[in-house]
Amino acid sequence: MRYLILVTLLAFEAMAGARTVAVHGHRGSRGYYPENTLPAFAHALKVGVNVLELDTGITKDEQVIVSHDPVINPRHCLDKDGKVVTSKVILKNITLKEVKEYDCGALKNSDFPKQTPVPKTSIPTLSEVFELATKDESLAASKVLFNIETKIEPGNPELYTDPGKFVKLLYAVIKKHGMEKRVIIQSFDFRTLVEIRKLDRRIPISLLLSDEPGDLAKLVKEYKPNIVSPNFKWVKEKHVNALKKLGVQTIPWTPNRESDWKKLIKMKVDGIITDYPDDLIRFQVPFSE
Ligand code: G3P
Ligand code: CA
Repeated sequence: MRYLILVTLLAFEAMAGARTVAVHGHRGSRGYYPENTLPAFAHALKVGVNVLELDTGITKDEQVIVSHDPVINPRHCLDKDGKVVTSKVILKNITLKEVKEYDCGALKNSDFPKQTPVPKTSIPTLSEVFELATKDESLAASKVLFNIETKIEPGNPELYTDPGKFVKLLYAVIKKHGMEKRVIIQSFDFRTLVEIRKLDRRIPISLLLSDEPGDLAKLVKEYKPNIVSPNFKWVKEKHVNALKKLGVQTIPWTPNRESDWKKLIKMKVDGIITDYPDDLIRFQVPFSE
């Protein structure tokens, strides 16, 4: 048995060594399990991701939860009676106990044909994701990092918690679990990145960019990020090179096709955020030889 474990570990190490980019499992592994759920994160750990990508929000009772949307999404969740959600339920207006009543694993996301529903799966807290990784005894889990997105937008205060409060609550959970050295904070709303820098300068920050910015160097000068995460659709080698010169990593989101992975790896990006982390891991082994 011990030999088997050792062989498996060595195989994993060899495989990890063959990786040219870090593999970030998007919303855990959305291609296979309902997004941002414990089954999706468990699967990502099982296949050996380097980083778990996840989205966070805050409940009425100030709990940090893992959700892409500021509302209960009727495309993904059923109510406590197993019925379709017909009203707009804003997460920041309900307690964690109420959040936990929704089943956000029963419905298959039709955009991901290989996704397996997991009925009776609730929206997890960030603490539950940290606990999942801590309890998992695999090598991947012991080293895994967490790329945590603060889901917040300026201009919609009825949906989102104020950035200062959001980050204070998020940082308290990170500290409680001793995860300061294993997290990256990413956001489209740079206000939260400024806030986290005030609390802990050691935590890497990542600027999420939907569109190509007019002046990338200016943006970097202003926010001093460790990472820039562009939409993979517009990123080019010139951006990767420019960022590298400034000491900034490039980690695009969210390519799911081999042809796109190949292009990005050739550009020498530092990581790739994908819904199919196991496929990207397999793809990189022959690629690097
Ligand atoms: O990590 C970046 C990526 O997750 C941003 O897009 O909408 O999937 O959160 P979204
Ligand atoms: Ca995200």
